[in-house]
Amino acid sequence: MEVLQDITTEILDLKKEKNATLLAHYYQESAIQDIADHVGDSLYLAQQANKTESDIIIMAGVHFMAETVKILNPDKKVLIPDANAGCSLADSCPPKDFEKFIGKYPGHCVISYINCSAEIKAMSDVICTSSNALKVINSVPEDQPIIFAPDKNLGRYLIEQTGRDLLLWEGACLVHEAFSIDKLLELHKKYPESKIIAHPESEEHILKTASYIGSTAGMIRYVKEHDNEQFIVATEAGILHAMQKEVPGTKLIPAPVSEDNTCACSECGYMKMNTLEKLYLCLKNESPSIDVDESIRLKALLPVRRMLEISK
Ligand code: 13P
Ligand code: SF4
Repeated sequence: MEVLQDITTEILDLKKEKNATLLAHYYQESAIQDIADHVGDSLYLAQQANKTESDIIIMAGVHFMAETVKILNPDKKVLIPDANAGCSLADSCPPKDFEKFIGKYPGHCVISYINCSAEIKAMSDVICTSSNALKVINSVPEDQPIIFAPDKNLGRYLIEQTGRDLLLWEGACLVHEAFSIDKLLELHKKYPESKIIAHPESEEHILKTASYIGSTAGMIRYVKEHDNEQFIVATEAGILHAMQKEVPGTKLIPAPVSEDNTCACSECGYMKMNTLEKLYLCLKNESPSIDVDESIRLKALLPVRRMLEISK
């Protein structure tokens, strides 16, 4: 406990001394969320990254999130506690294959979910997150065909919501595809009063059971607005920390995952690569830092800026 206190104090001192801002995603371990300057979903973190004046930005999240920060802040030092903190969804869209894919469909507007590499962003017309995807799609003229990548589950959900015929890339997130529908229905029988809420990266059969579907920030907002109820939460378990803080008296139950899932819980192994100790070392050594090739960065900046503009 004392060690945790010491390292926390060291991080806070270093942050001040080096004029650094710490951004943390809701899936980070609780101790990291508790000392961050800003905690939020992908859109909120990109918005904060776009307005910070610090010399250093530490992204306690995964690689694509840190890349987005660097795309927006080429002159600042961008750090990530563990450079191997990747994303199964971003990995499901290799740039060479994607280039061939979009080459087959000229005239399409390419909308990419922010969970993708800088190379994919550079090939896109506009970026979206789960918070603003509907708004971004609705900003594209009705008669313009759209490619949506890389998440097929979010894509299918957006087709249903917008009535648009999106051409989907078949990518997915391993964490959100691990939820077990049988176990979820069993759990709901045990807590019949509970409401199921889900992140749109979850599979269609999970989304069909949900009273609310939205981004991590949207899910927290929904629970806050209905705090006299019980919830089964279908997204990464790290969200429960921030959610429970908002609604201390509300029962929150993590959605169950299938037996063959190696982790037996809904934790994202990549997000959890970041630890308090690695955060301390990364701030102390100013490493690992994130760099994005300048020609890719310039191409990726346009669709990221477009997204920020649409989300105002
Ligand atoms: P949010 O933008 O909803 O926080 O989602 C990020 C993510 O990685 C979901 O798996
Ligand atoms: Fe990527 Fe899935 Fe982890 Fe989100 S939960 S960072 S989409 S692997």
